Amino acid sequence: QAIYLKDYQAPAFWVDQVKLDVALDDHQTRVISTLSLRRNDQREAGLPLVLNGQGLTLKRIELAGQPLAETDYQYQEDLLTVARVPDQFTLVTEVEIDPANNTALEGLYKSNTMFCTQCEAEGFRRITFFPDRPDVLTRFTTRIEADQQRFPILLSNGNPIERGELDNGRHFVTWEDPFPKPCYLFALVGGNLQAVKDTFTTMSGREVALEIWVEPENLHKCDHAMRSLKASMRWDEQTYGREYDLDIFMIVAVNDFNMGAMENKGLNIFNSACVLAEPKSETDAAFQRVEGVVGHEYFHNWSGNRVTCRDWFQLSLKEGFTVYRDQSFSADMNSAPVKRIEDVAMLRTAQFAEDAGPTAHPVRPDHYIEINNFYTLTIYEKGAEVVRMMAELLGRERFRQATDLYFERHDGEAATVEDFVACMAEVSELDFSQFMRWYHQAGTPKIEASGHFDADARTYQLTLRQHTPATPGQADKLPLHIPVRMGLVGPNGHDLPLELNGEQLGTETVLHLREAEQTFTFHNIAAEPVPSLLRGFSAPVKLAFDYSREQLAFLMAHDSDGFNRWDAGQRLAVLALQHLVNQIQANEPLQLDPALIEATRTLLNGEMTDKAVLAEMLRLPSEAYLAEQYEQVDVDAIHKARSFARKALADALYDDFLRLYKVNQRVGDYAPEANQIAERSLKNTCLGYLMAREDEATIALTQEQFNCADNMTDQRAALTLLAHAEDPRLGAEPLRRFGESWAHDPLVMDQWFSLQVTRPQADALDRLKMLMAHPAFSLKNPNRVRALIGAFVGQNRVNFHRQDGQGYQLLADVVIELNRLNPQIAARLVIPLTRWKRMTSERQDMMKAQLERIRQESLSPDLFEIIEKALAA
Ligand code: ARG
Ligand code: ZN
Repeated sequence: QAIYLKDYQAPAFWVDQVKLDVALDDHQTRVISTLSLRRNDQREAGLPLVLNGQGLTLKRIELAGQPLAETDYQYQEDLLTVARVPDQFTLVTEVEIDPANNTALEGLYKSNTMFCTQCEAEGFRRITFFPDRPDVLTRFTTRIEADQQRFPILLSNGNPIERGELDNGRHFVTWEDPFPKPCYLFALVGGNLQAVKDTFTTMSGREVALEIWVEPENLHKCDHAMRSLKASMRWDEQTYGREYDLDIFMIVAVNDFNMGAMENKGLNIFNSACVLAEPKSETDAAFQRVEGVVGHEYFHNWSGNRVTCRDWFQLSLKEGFTVYRDQSFSADMNSAPVKRIEDVAMLRTAQFAEDAGPTAHPVRPDHYIEINNFYTLTIYEKGAEVVRMMAELLGRERFRQATDLYFERHDGEAATVEDFVACMAEVSELDFSQFMRWYHQAGTPKIEASGHFDADARTYQLTLRQHTPATPGQADKLPLHIPVRMGLVGPNGHDLPLELNGEQLGTETVLHLREAEQTFTFHNIAAEPVPSLLRGFSAPVKLAFDYSREQLAFLMAHDSDGFNRWDAGQRLAVLALQHLVNQIQANEPLQLDPALIEATRTLLNGEMTDKAVLAEMLRLPSEAYLAEQYEQVDVDAIHKARSFARKALADALYDDFLRLYKVNQRVGDYAPEANQIAERSLKNTCLGYLMAREDEATIALTQEQFNCADNMTDQRAALTLLAHAEDPRLGAEPLRRFGESWAHDPLVMDQWFSLQVTRPQADALDRLKMLMAHPAFSLKNPNRVRALIGAFVGQNRVNFHRQDGQGYQLLADVVIELNRLNPQIAARLVIPLTRWKRMTSERQDMMKAQLERIRQESLSPDLFEIIEKALAA
């Protein structure tokens, strides 16, 4: 069942051209495909023609104009095999498919009233017979016909070349894509849609039509995506020299979508949550997500489409690189340090947890059962970190030369990770052979650092030891090439000049850790410095250094690296919270570390001008991040410790929080721009602390903010605090009113569902059950499932891990049902249940019992692969 990278073979046939003729119908869509096939002369002679096809009803098959006899071909186990074929020929197949019953949302399916497609990774085989693999690049011509009234808009990749009316109220449009592409980039849309239109003039002066197609009620939510699209196009020209290539670029918003969005050539299809944004209904975070995802999909036009992947093992070649590109874009458009903080926080909680669990895999996996299970944080986010390290190693200018070389050399090709790294190596003349281990080895490397100051010799010795723990199927790990950006902060708070091996390196340098252990001796150090290590998070590793609380407070105040100032604060908070966890476990009275209170007081009263970063620095590490610090996780103690700390900080610093809350009330009109976003973020962080006290004055403030807000960011922040209050009456009325006034808007309702089930109090599970019975809940809509079930299991740790095991049971029930409806979503949702190993033993048993229960079902490959890994661990 598993597929191995080492078994890769070039395709036996190329497809020079495909003509598709799609007659849309809810239950009986007819697809006629005409393939111009040619034998690959690099493969052995006489190979049969084998095409993928899943769930297709074959109506007709003709080779070179002649119908094939039933004995000439076979269609079984999702493969169509024609044993004897010439070297070059035309194959026509006619099939019937049932989009309206396609709940997997792969291939052609219906979302509300519209038809749409999702072909990556292997959805095209659900539309027609084809060599469904990314290394077969083909020119597509697509004729779509449908009922004109219900589906006036018919879209596909490339340019429209013909349209016309037919009998019975039907019409057709024909699209031609001049760029050969793998079939996973095919897209088709049919619906009653309206567009916001604009144009973009490329750097060479070509005018490109831009269109964002949505259901009519969403027309007012497209402006931000359009702005983001134009900004992306300009940014890719300026930063990477990449120009758009077609005359038209379209985005379509759909409500039912398994992932965030899809980069189909010239016709991106988006989850509506990643494209629609308007101040009254979407938060600042949503605006930023839209900008990031629009950029991401647009950037794929080069990193993904013009240069695609040879096989799905290379997925990170396009995804890691494109995430790196979208991260840089967002950093340029917004607060760069905050973007980095957010990305690293996510990596260090969610990706590190993946590395430490049963589904750990390398950035380039060497085998899989279901490729859809590999659209992971490791492929995307760790993959981006690996590209970031290469960019760091090369420096801005040479990295640009290397990407130029990559795009030029492989334009129109299906490439590999080696091809990409070879361009880095060629331009820089650096040796990347050890670096390649980042692609092969799973797991999070850990660096243990220690320092020794010798006052007499005036030296500071920094010793770095690296070790990567074993992961399933990969017991032994070799040392990685790890770039450690660092400085030494002197007693006066300034970076000291670094002298290493007789060389003057300035005040900051990158150490290249290549061995299991290395010592770096810095000379001419007069007084004991505090090392600032892994600045900017220069490598995706865990770094341990035995900092004192005083040293951390010092770095928080003085480190010249903004990221490390934040990280020092996080470390100080982790120490304080771990201390509370110990007190809770020992049944001792709780007391919050005064050092954390003082550090927070300094932040609140300091002259930090970057409010966005200040808000980040005021935030305590999440429960998920705290859990990452333990082999065995005490979910309840962590939750209790964090809640206690929030309340203790609020009690000690009430006046400061209140003052900052008031100072950051906006004057003037709302806009989703950086300064205001920072202000709102800071203000609402302060309100969050104040509400930890649930005192009358704060309740009144929060209610006022809920009632008077003119934007969703402020309103939702207030609503969440009321809904999460100890006193359940506080949230009741606001939730009712909010739910009523937004009943027409599914994206806002998703938030309404989420914030009720992320309530930390013990009644959350009952609320979840009640909301699952709400008429607006449906297991068929992935956004709704994520908003309700996903939010509960992912963000409400104490309640998911309830001691009676009911959280686990509910998740298993849902997963069993989703296994039939939507395997991809089922396999994703189950992940928290697979991480049983780090829980206490009673919980382990309950979690495994639910995994066993799921295993009794007839499982999709998606779920099968995950459950087997989870139970084998
Ligand atoms: N290539 C898309 C993106 O990252 C993701 C699509 C993945 N879809 C899937 N069903 N696995 O932009
Ligand atoms: Zn992508």
